[in-house]
Amino acid sequence: GAPVRADVSKLELGQRMTVEWRGRPIWIINRTAEMIERTEGFDGSRLSDPDSEVPQQPGYVSGPLRSIRPEIGVLIGICTHLGCSPLFRPEPDAVDMDNWPGGFFCPCHGSYFDLAGRVFRNVPAPTNLEVPPYRFETDDIIIVG
Ligand code: FES
Repeated sequence: GAPVRADVSKLELGQRMTVEWRGRPIWIINRTAEMIERTEGFDGSRLSDPDSEVPQQPGYVSGPLRSIRPEIGVLIGICTHLGCSPLFRPEPDAVDMDNWPGGFFCPCHGSYFDLAGRVFRNVPAPTNLEVPPYRFETDDIIIVG
C-alpha cells in the first residue's frame, strides 16, 4: 500500500481524526498539554507494557507518549485483542475507572488503552496499540507508511 498523507492543520486540540492506510484506520490525536501530563504522569504499574518493550512501534518513537512530537499521537485504531475498533474516551470522567487518564475503550471485550495506546493490565488485549511508520513532511503534513 502507498503511504497516505494527513493534514493536521484543522485538527483541534484534544480531538482525533482518522485516515485510512492499507485498509486500516489510522488515528491522529492532537493531545492537549493537560492530556500529555495525564499520560506521562500515569501510574505505569497499571499498564501491561508501560515502556513499550514489546515492539509495537517504529524505533524512532519512544517514551510514554510513543510519538515523534508530544502533542501528536499516531496509532493504528485496531484493538490488539480481536481487531475491533476502540472508542475514543479522552476525558478523565469518561470511563468508570479510578484515575482514568483518558484514552480508548474497546467495547467488544473490555480492553482499555491510554492516550498513547498503552494497554492496561488485566484486559483481553495483550499488547499496546500499534504505532504505524510515519514522519512529518511539514509541521502540518504527516506521511503514514
Ligand atoms: Fe478489543 Fe476484544 S477486540 S477487547
